[in-house]
Amino acid sequence: MEIVLTETPADAAERVATEILTALAKKPSLVLGLATGSTPIQVYERLREARQSGEADFSQVRTFNLDEYLDLPPDHPQSYRTFMRDHLFAGLGIPPEQIHFPPSEGSQLVQRCGDYEDAIVAAGGIDIQLLGMGRNGHVGFNEPTSSIRSRTRLKTLTQRTLDDNARFYADGEAQPTLASTMGIGTILDARRILLQAYGVKKANAVRACVEGPVSSFFPASALQLHANTTCYFDPEAAQFLAMTDYYRETRKNKEALAAAGRM
Ligand code: F6R
Repeated sequence: MEIVLTETPADAAERVATEILTALAKKPSLVLGLATGSTPIQVYERLREARQSGEADFSQVRTFNLDEYLDLPPDHPQSYRTFMRDHLFAGLGIPPEQIHFPPSEGSQLVQRCGDYEDAIVAAGGIDIQLLGMGRNGHVGFNEPTSSIRSRTRLKTLTQRTLDDNARFYADGEAQPTLASTMGIGTILDARRILLQAYGVKKANAVRACVEGPVSSFFPASALQLHANTTCYFDPEAAQFLAMTDYYRETRKNKEALAAAGRM
């Protein structure tokens, strides 16, 4: 796990977006695993700018979102399909048939969750997976006790996650308590994982994810089992990490080796 400590979320977003744009330049049919929530918004803004300025062409990109609430219609203001349309897809020029979400409406959901896994494999697997992290360590909607080898499936959301997301719902409006989500095993199959976490409310989660034991009780800790993950944290989110000096030194050495053409 590589830890990158940045001054601001904007610095981190620039690095994450640059990595995606560099990968896209090399592979126009890049397969992206995408997250919703406040964390990736600046990355998405940067990707849209790159498309608008002609710097990048997303027309061959395939996308697979991590999760979706059960039974919210696609155009519901809180559905993740609406979120992605508003924050990314509307400005990116990806043909709709290349955009995928886990099944969240209708029947045969278990079979269709399996079909989602098959679609990821048929696309050649996820090249770059973007992740945020819940305060309770969830990634996607893999709540605490999610199996580390879990695949796309339905999950019941914890009260903590419901409380964290209640701000998006009007008083008295029904909030979904079920979701479909890629599993932790699905996420760990991605060739590259970029996790971002910002702000004081993520500080405990960041500490447990990076320096705690691997545990299904803290799903993001499973990323310690992935060989090609980089985590970006701002100073507030990183404040409880014990080895910040080491992470800075590691980064410096890596950049020096790269600058010398030795990587
Ligand atoms: C959503 C997702 C979630 C969020 C997490 C953090 O697709 O994957 O795991 O990343 O709940 O949400 P924010 O970014 O709003 O703090």
